[in-house]
Amino acid sequence: MSDEFLRDALAGLTAEPKSLPGKYLWDETGSDLFDRICHSADYYPTIQETALLPQAAADVARLVAPGVTVVEFGSGASRKIRTLLDALPDPSAYVAIDISGEYLEAAIRRLAPDYPGIAMVPVCADYSKPVRLPISAGPGGVLGFYPGTSIGNLEPREAGLFLERARQTLGPSLFLVGADGTSDPERLQRAYGAADGLMAAFHGNMLTRLNRELGADFDRDNFRHDIRLCHDPLRVEARLVATRAASYRLGDRTITLAAAEGIRTDTSHKYTADAFRTLAAASGWTPRALWQAEGGSFNLHLLQAEA
Ligand SMILES: C[S@@+](CC[C@H](N)C(=O)[O-])C[C@H]1O[C@@H](n2cnc3c(N)ncnc32)[C@H](O)[C@@H]1O
Repeated sequence: MSDEFLRDALAGLTAEPKSLPGKYLWDETGSDLFDRICHSADYYPTIQETALLPQAAADVARLVAPGVTVVEFGSGASRKIRTLLDALPDPSAYVAIDISGEYLEAAIRRLAPDYPGIAMVPVCADYSKPVRLPISAGPGGVLGFYPGTSIGNLEPREAGLFLERARQTLGPSLFLVGADGTSDPERLQRAYGAADGLMAAFHGNMLTRLNRELGADFDRDNFRHDIRLCHDPLRVEARLVATRAASYRLGDRTITLAAAEGIRTDTSHKYTADAFRTLAAASGWTPRALWQAEGGSFNLHLLQAEA
């Protein structure tokens, strides 16, 4: 992992403009900070999706047979999955895929006692690469779940490739995917640029990881968190901006930042329902159903892949 982390970090920090891949936001600290962000009143995606899930889960439950295997990509704290597991007819297994290994194990330890009849299968893996399920599908087939705004954190081309890979991983299946469609600048500013400091800590943690895991010497105090609303396509970009010019060591390279130069640490793309359906169809999925909050400010899509 650390060879790849160093390679990716050097590639991003020696390019112009500078960036770091968002997947490195997720270690135990990053996952914990994100869970706290999800509980904040300004982080509307969790609030809206959580409100949509009971109806979506009840509708999906009517479409799957008993014994379904549920596979979640980017399972995080494994909170939303409870709504699905509670509604589905006798699910046989829950496969939780996440890159944040220790946090994943702890989330499954918390979940498992409440679902003694369901096999719990944590899989620490990077879903930007092919992932193979470690168990075969249950008698009720496979239901994929990719909630939150995670698909938006991938560049649109990467999101298309992710959906293709997910089709390979899941095989013939249904796939419930969340996609944020919010375009209101004030709401986006409140959610991503929140004044409570949690977003800043979440992004700043990436520098702590570079120092701890790769022996770099970034001075966190020299960076402030900033967001930018960009168009065509609509997205929020998060940056760590150097307050003064400085040079840092990373591997055998020196990374030099000018004053006010930013490092992009994450992007959150927003999709209208139609734009997401087009992306999914181009990746081999058939859109089957849609649940919408506030006329499309958050969308839960049900996709289907045939044999
Ligand atoms: C935005 S959070 C969503 C968490 C949760 N599913 C929710 O809806 O609240 C993204 C999750 O995906 C995981 N993740 C991010 N990039 C990943 C990758 N490349 N491979 C596997 N997991 C990843 C993170 O560790 C995190 O738990």
